[in-house]
Amino acid sequence: MNARLLNWGQSQSGPKWGPINEVGVNWRPTAISKVFDPATDPFCNNRALNPIYFDPISREIAMQAILLEEFGGPEVLAIGEAQTPEPGEHQVLIKVEATTVNRADTIQRLGHYPAPKGESELLGLEVAGTIAALGPGVEGHAIGDRVMSLVGGGGYAEFATAYADHLIPIPQRLSFEQAACVCETYITAYLNVFMLGDIEDGETVLLHGGGGGVNTSGIQICRALTPESRIIVTASAGKLERVAELGAHDVIDYKAQDFAEAVREITAKRGADVILDHIGGKYLAGNLKALAVGGRLVIIGLMGGAKAEINLGALMVKRQQVIGSVLRSRSVAEKTGIVAQFANAVMPLFEQGAIEPLIHAVLPLAEAAEAHRMMEASEHFGKIVLVP
Ligand SMILES: NC(=O)c1ccc[n+]([C@@H]2O[C@H](COP(=O)([O-])OP(=O)(O)OC[C@H]3O[C@@H](n4cnc5c(N)ncnc54)[C@H](OP(=O)(O)O)[C@@H]3O)[C@@H](O)[C@H]2O)c1
Repeated sequence: MNARLLNWGQSQSGPKWGPINEVGVNWRPTAISKVFDPATDPFCNNRALNPIYFDPISREIAMQAILLEEFGGPEVLAIGEAQTPEPGEHQVLIKVEATTVNRADTIQRLGHYPAPKGESELLGLEVAGTIAALGPGVEGHAIGDRVMSLVGGGGYAEFATAYADHLIPIPQRLSFEQAACVCETYITAYLNVFMLGDIEDGETVLLHGGGGGVNTSGIQICRALTPESRIIVTASAGKLERVAELGAHDVIDYKAQDFAEAVREITAKRGADVILDHIGGKYLAGNLKALAVGGRLVIIGLMGGAKAEINLGALMVKRQQVIGSVLRSRSVAEKTGIVAQFANAVMPLFEQGAIEPLIHAVLPLAEAAEAHRMMEASEHFGKIVLVP
């Protein structure tokens, strides 16, 4: 019999221990035995220090997570206990060391962006941590590996599952907090400006909202991968200076200026070849006016509404393309392809220290409500990180 014991919870006479093979659920002994090992970990029976807790009544393993029991403002987010997920086929269980807040989380919290079918209902789209358990069929990864990954949901927790094919090894020079910032926003910027927007070096790009997560990432990778491109960025007045320091060649105060006119002036009426937009309806006409002949407008968000009217005649004559794109609900196979291309093109920049994730604040996971408030008040420049 395996000598390692599993904590069966506290009783009045102290912690009870049972042999791990009494758990009777195939994957769990492997996962737990890595975390619960009284021989090497004197704190393993202490709930405050060891997050995995096996409830002998429900026979579930609980972890701390941010729960969303109703939709509403940031105050609906509270720390509580959820069942630790099980890694399915070709998945791993990650001990989350850091996750981040993305705008989509705030929309999910409001009840307008449900988790895709089959994904965790918990918030959180990206994690960094170590592999705690391997699901069936996983090869080429080992327990303890430092990894970061996109997740379809479930990042705001002590443990999350991810597909092995979506894992990216964390470069040595990045901390868990920095690594947690890479997957959602840099992959979004790379997918939409490079893979779908098909930018070529020397072309002009317009990025909206340059102080946010996606577009601070966008500025950095455009500077690094298309050094001859002109980068035009919109932002609110208080963020313009930092956006320029980050690498934007031209900045536009979107609250005080007509951005389409400003882009036409900057480009001598030619317009931008690629526009990455997350405002949607409210900006559609302006974006098409600011787009060059043959330009590509990629829409990834609807902060300014989902509906608008456009002149299709002008679209035809100017041979413009309007492309809609989402990352989260794509198939596992599609994400695998995107992650592989991203890792190949962008990860060397992190490994060499050519770019670094921009962290606005690091908060304990329990303060997720404060982190959402910060994002919705647009106080941040770069990413807000949560640490379980
Ligand atoms: N489709 C996808 O796959 C995908 C993936 C990731 C993200 N997204 C979307 O991308 C957007 C950004 O996400 P995020 O996580 O980076 O959020 P974020 O950090 O909150 O950034 C949002 C930015 O939008 C800017 N903004 C607000 N109103 C604006 C306007 N009228 N004109 C120009 N900029 C404006 C804000 O700028 P100021 O603070 O300067 O006001 C802020 O910097 C969200 O809509 C999100 O849903 C889509």
